[in-house]
Amino acid sequence: MTETDPTKRAALITDSAEQKRQRMKQVCSACHSESYVNNFYEQHDNLVILFAKAGKAIMGSLKENHLITPTSFDEEIEFTWFYLWHHKGRRARHGASMMAPDYTHWHGMYEVAEWFYMELIPQAREIAEHGRENGHAAEAAKVDAVTDEILTRPEHIWFVEGDEESMARIRAAMDERYGAGQGD
Ligand code: HEC
Repeated sequence: MTETDPTKRAALITDSAEQKRQRMKQVCSACHSESYVNNFYEQHDNLVILFAKAGKAIMGSLKENHLITPTSFDEEIEFTWFYLWHHKGRRARHGASMMAPDYTHWHGMYEVAEWFYMELIPQAREIAEHGRENGHAAEAAKVDAVTDEILTRPEHIWFVEGDEESMARIRAAMDERYGAGQGD
């Protein structure tokens, strides 16, 4: 596009994210097979869904049930959510898009997970608890139901119930690779 006037330029940009993705896929297809490219995008989308959609659902539920105000950034959880998805989550997403393992994992999903489980979930629970104490039990129950549904999904259930089986497998693999006792 050669148009430089911002208003005229905006009017010319009419395609959706999906259309942009299709164009990007055409580029990938110059070198990779269709299934290889589709698998990459499936993996990428799954990474986003893991925490972003879950967090968005919790935030949406708090707002819909009027347990947080419609004003952004006047509650702690809104900063938590911003950090979670716009700082840490964006690094993870960009890392995954660019196939950068260190950014996807250590600078990305590791921090996203920490903020999701250790900040967002406890804060949402606390707000619901406050609601219950202040005559909004029905609304609080709705928010808790959203959080409960998310935490009982296969990818999050370990947080609620623990997962000794997976831990034992990880320990055994560590022992095997690095020597006895290294998995502890
Ligand atoms: C100009 C050719 C070319 C284009 C265009 C291209 N790739 Fe690749 N891609 C390669 C080559 C070559 C490798 C193998 C690099 C290596 O093994 O070091 C690779 C590797 C990969 C890998 C494996 C990375 C890994 O760490 O194992 C994935 C996934 C991938 N490409 C996806 C994509 C996607 C998605 C696009 C479009 C957004 C794309 N590629 C565009 C040539 C290309």
